[in-house]
Amino acid sequence: MKKTLSQKSLLMTLSVLISISLLILTLLGACSKQKDVNQVGVLHWWTSGGEAAALNVLKEDLEGKGVAWEDIAVAGGGGEQAMTALRARVAAGDSPTAVQMLGFDIVEWAQEGVLADLNTVANENNWDTVIPLALQKFAKYDGKWISAPVNVHSVNWVWGNKAIFDELGLSPPQTWDEFIAAAKKIKKAGYIPIAHGGQAWQEATVFDSLVYSVGGIDFYTRAMIDLDPAAINSKEMQTVFNRLRDIRDLVDPNFPGRDWNLATAMVIEGKAGMQIMGDWAKGEFIKANQVPDEDFLCFRFPGTQEAVIFNSDQFVMFEIEANRRNAQNLMAVSIMDPVFQSAFNVVKGSVPARVDVPDDDFDDCGKKAMAQLTAANNNNTMVGSFAHGHASPAAVKNAMYDVITQFFNSDQSSQAAAQALTDAVGLAVQ
Ligand code: BGC
Repeated sequence: MKKTLSQKSLLMTLSVLISISLLILTLLGACSKQKDVNQVGVLHWWTSGGEAAALNVLKEDLEGKGVAWEDIAVAGGGGEQAMTALRARVAAGDSPTAVQMLGFDIVEWAQEGVLADLNTVANENNWDTVIPLALQKFAKYDGKWISAPVNVHSVNWVWGNKAIFDELGLSPPQTWDEFIAAAKKIKKAGYIPIAHGGQAWQEATVFDSLVYSVGGIDFYTRAMIDLDPAAINSKEMQTVFNRLRDIRDLVDPNFPGRDWNLATAMVIEGKAGMQIMGDWAKGEFIKANQVPDEDFLCFRFPGTQEAVIFNSDQFVMFEIEANRRNAQNLMAVSIMDPVFQSAFNVVKGSVPARVDVPDDDFDDCGKKAMAQLTAANNNNTMVGSFAHGHASPAAVKNAMYDVITQFFNSDQSSQAAAQALTDAVGLAVQ
């Protein structure tokens, strides 16, 4: 179709306008990338009350040293959404200075060749000696330090409301049967037995504890770390799914989509008796001014008393412009400072990522967690959490998430779920 003269001139004006706008946008983009050399841009998913309080300890520590903080928060426990945002940012040529990251994700970013080399500061500060080997496995790649571990969390905890336990004459259950009996008693008394947030990573977090409690360290290692099909498609795995179904029957109807910290709030407020969650939940109790053994209980998931199913938050340092590396190095050194490690982890609910930090400032749960970590490390009962990226790469982890969450939200049989898990892992490892 032929265009009239006025249509042609309109099109030309439009294309000139578009070109000018694009030029302005490019210039604005270039300016926004001109970052203050004393500023660190930090991508993380610490957005709950307890998490934000812990992050503030780091932020204030750095600000006290003249390092400004650019906050890049991407909500979502377990960090899946944060990792998606990170990919987009790096692809756009705008890498953050530092990124909160877990286990195998760190290795995958290291393989991309986009991370900083922290060897100078690591050697000056003796990181090889003070950071546990289980964390070095992820913090170093090809002989090069690439990240600074800020904590060690563990997922195999149960958080209990002390008043409800006292009212019902309950003590922390030691076995699976005792756990179910306690939950049923709580239900009968009119409380929600288990506070749960229906998100794939939260179901996976419960799964971590169930796998260990059903089959111990050997089964956990074979199924979740070695990904042995005979272990994944086994009678033990069917028992794991049976127990997950038992838990499903003890949560309230409003669980779908609920954030983990809102589930913790249900225990804090005395609406629910227990939550199965990593010790970042303790940060919420502390934020609410609650005291362990007075207001809340922390005990290991029954059958995992000897185990520490761990995940460690690390700040992975990205390659950035040379003139901004001082601030980056200062951040790495500050994170590994023993005084900081104590101050931060007391608030976060985790334990230090160095072996030489005294437990003086920690509450009873924290002291217990530190002693258990040392024991588990000596007895080889410390294993990486599958749910939090320390057992297998993201592709396998996500494939498992899908199967577990699908089971949790349906009437699928345990046998079919064990088969589906085996098939999903088989496809993901190809
Ligand atoms: C992180 C914790 C965080 C939790 C919930 C875990 O993957 O390791 O630091 O508090 O997710 O957001």
